[in-house]
Amino acid sequence: MAYSGPFQPGDRVQLTDPKRRHLTITLQPDAKLSTHKGIINHNDIIGADEGTIVKSEQGTEYLCFRHLLVDHILSMPRGAAVIYPKDSAQILTEGDIFPGARVLEAGAGSGALTISLLRAVGDTGQVISYEIRPDHLEYAEKNVDQYFGTRPPNWDPRLGDLRATTLDDLDGQPVDRVLLDMLEPWECLTVAKQLLVPGGVLMAYVATVPQLMNVMEGIREQQCFTEPRAWESLVREWRVEGLATRPEHRMNAHTAFLIWARRLADGVTPPRPQRRARK
Ligand SMILES: C[S@@+](CC[C@H](N)C(=O)[O-])C[C@H]1O[C@@H](n2cnc3c(N)ncnc32)[C@H](O)[C@@H]1O
Repeated sequence: MAYSGPFQPGDRVQLTDPKRRHLTITLQPDAKLSTHKGIINHNDIIGADEGTIVKSEQGTEYLCFRHLLVDHILSMPRGAAVIYPKDSAQILTEGDIFPGARVLEAGAGSGALTISLLRAVGDTGQVISYEIRPDHLEYAEKNVDQYFGTRPPNWDPRLGDLRATTLDDLDGQPVDRVLLDMLEPWECLTVAKQLLVPGGVLMAYVATVPQLMNVMEGIREQQCFTEPRAWESLVREWRVEGLATRPEHRMNAHTAFLIWARRLADGVTPPRPQRRARK
């Protein structure tokens, strides 16, 4: 898959019309796209630089860019709710997903987080994705394969229940990171403890306050993690137009809470968090 350079056959290209409506095509030599503004010839796009304008037979202009990761994630078919880009960005940075990391995630769902993880760990890393539902795993596999144009060799999708996973299933090698996105992640904390390397990062993603409380308490009860942190990210776009400059009326506010903790060395109990004495 090409990320830059002139358009090539096989590229997924987003066409934007003057009303900012999008059409997405996969370029094929001699193929034609029928629109209500007339036909667009793929050959007019192949070989051109990104940001070019192509005209339909009726003269409507379409701006052409390759599909970005966010475009793919927001438009791909899904069986389960996806982790939105504002949150996967937090997971990549706060979860310290480094090139070469071995990452375990569950559930794979629609594969949205998986795609970001695979890009971040690179060719020398590995992503192992557990998914309990065959229909959801199918969505994840299709979405990941379509994004990369092939099955990434560093991806290991598995149909199964993370709760039943042991170190033997991972060739006896603990992983660097464990990421949980499911309804009841507290049921996977004992397994996370067994599969995570000392110093490794555990992150969970949950939508509601009761889930947040259960995961925080569950992490504390394991007695092998640092005191967990919890937060959420709110993103507000701004309209910048002279004296009318102001925040947009609508925003993507709550999606889910993020929870973070690090695995302690074996045999170490978590230091008690010290609260400042009241004056
Ligand atoms: C919200 S979706 C995950 C979405 C995914 N992170 C994404 O960005 O596309 C949660 C998934 O977890 C799966 N799941 C729930 N419990 C599981 C378990 N114990 N082991 C593996 N998968 C599980 C569900 O079937 C569901 O597909």
